[in-house]
Amino acid sequence: MNEHAQPLSMSERADELEEEKMHEMERIITRSTIAHLMDGNIKMDTSPEMRARYPGKFFLMGDDPRLPPMPQKPTLVDYFRHRFASTAHLLQSATHALKGGQPEKVVLACLLHDIAIVSFIRCDHGYWGAQMIEPYVDEEVAWAVKTHQALRFFSDETVGYGYPDLYKQLFGPDYQPEPYIVEEYKRARAHKWYMTSRLICVNDIYSFDPNARVSLDDFVDIIGRNFRQPKEGLGLDNSPSAHMWRTILWPTRFL
Ligand SMILES: [Fe+2]
Ligand SMILES: [Fe+2]
Repeated sequence: MNEHAQPLSMSERADELEEEKMHEMERIITRSTIAHLMDGNIKMDTSPEMRARYPGKFFLMGDDPRLPPMPQKPTLVDYFRHRFASTAHLLQSATHALKGGQPEKVVLACLLHDIAIVSFIRCDHGYWGAQMIEPYVDEEVAWAVKTHQALRFFSDETVGYGYPDLYKQLFGPDYQPEPYIVEEYKRARAHKWYMTSRLICVNDIYSFDPNARVSLDDFVDIIGRNFRQPKEGLGLDNSPSAHMWRTILWPTRFL
């Protein structure tokens, strides 16, 4: 019997369309194992299997034609404009910090605090985000981005920060952070830079207004003064986290 005799489900049709699109591509585009894991599948794209499906084609090893092109020497601003899936929350956080008269260090920390989520990965976003920016910012900014992940689950009434109602809605009223988050919180609470990280949380909770008018232009100078843009291009330099930026630049390269 023709396998298409039955009407296709939505996801089967989506897979079929994806397959058709792939055949139109000049190169074979592969997905990393983590992308399959996120779909609940423990599998990887292997070269024999993929070459059999797309005979005569070579694997993609450069720019993904489905994504906006990036300049030869990309800057952080280019990533904001062409790779970050959403910037409103980051810009609102940073705008709130700016209007509150916070130092540029704090404004930058707010601007970058969730970049892992908007460009790379959600899970443990504070740690990933901190590693991405560590070679390019003040040590205190990277530390604050890392630890805001833990601090946001714990209130500090001295600065008017309570456990967010949003988390009760998102995770349920009984959600308890993992032990490693509790331990991170205790270390951060006793750290000399505690308040920098806490200010990320304070500015964070005000920053989900879909009607707020914000612009990256307001922060280009602050980025220029506080983010060490590598002359080779962000990701094309030799920093300890350049590979993470390259992965965002070319997320579907075979190797
Ligand atoms: Fe966050
Ligand atoms: Fe946030």
